[in-house]
Amino acid sequence: MNLLRFDSEGAWVAGVASLWRDRLRTNPRLRMCLPSGNTPIRIYAAMAESVKRGLVSFRNAEIFALDDYGGLAPDDEGKCANILRRFLIDHVDLPNDQFHFIATDEPDQARVCRDYDRRIGDGFDLTLLGIGLNGHLGLNEPGSAPDSATRRVEMHASSIEASTDYLKHSNRPTWGVTVGLKQLLASKEIWLLASGAKKADIICRAVKGDVTTEVPATLLQKHPNCFLSVDAEAGALL
Ligand code: PGA
Repeated sequence: MNLLRFDSEGAWVAGVASLWRDRLRTNPRLRMCLPSGNTPIRIYAAMAESVKRGLVSFRNAEIFALDDYGGLAPDDEGKCANILRRFLIDHVDLPNDQFHFIATDEPDQARVCRDYDRRIGDGFDLTLLGIGLNGHLGLNEPGSAPDSATRRVEMHASSIEASTDYLKHSNRPTWGVTVGLKQLLASKEIWLLASGAKKADIICRAVKGDVTTEVPATLLQKHPNCFLSVDAEAGALL
């Protein structure tokens, strides 16, 4: 895993956004898998600003949401697709039909997952990931198989707890659908993103711990083109 450590959160946001602009300029048809959560929000804002200033374009790109919660109304603002819309998609020039998200409100989730994998097709050029305090990637919770496909998963207690950060009501999701580790690990390039002191322990385990499915983020150690981008606080134990 290649380490990119930035002195401050501001430098981290600017640094990741700059690299992202480079990737989009090199390949305007970039196919990306993107997370919701708190981690990327400032980076998304920087990319929206970059588009506004004409520095980069998403016009020919494609974006796939990494995961989503089940059991919430389609317009719930805590849904991952809606977070992505609110902080990125609505502010960039990506055509609507080039944003893919997981329809967790449909009755036949097996079919939804199969269709999503079919749309992912040849895979992602670039995958951005946050990290859960239990080392999960998307909703690939501890114990997920490295060759797992897009699928419905039961969320771990810590992930249910974390969902309260994004929800304005007390109806907690208990399950979700996630792009599987197979597709994530097959991505041509992966950026694992973390900022803040809360992430320092799990980042240290992800980078220095034994590779184990019990900490899914450790599987990234074997990826040939994975960058860990952290601010000083998240990288404090490295
Ligand atoms: P966060 O979530 O970005 O809100 O910290 C990351 C995750 O749980 O994967």
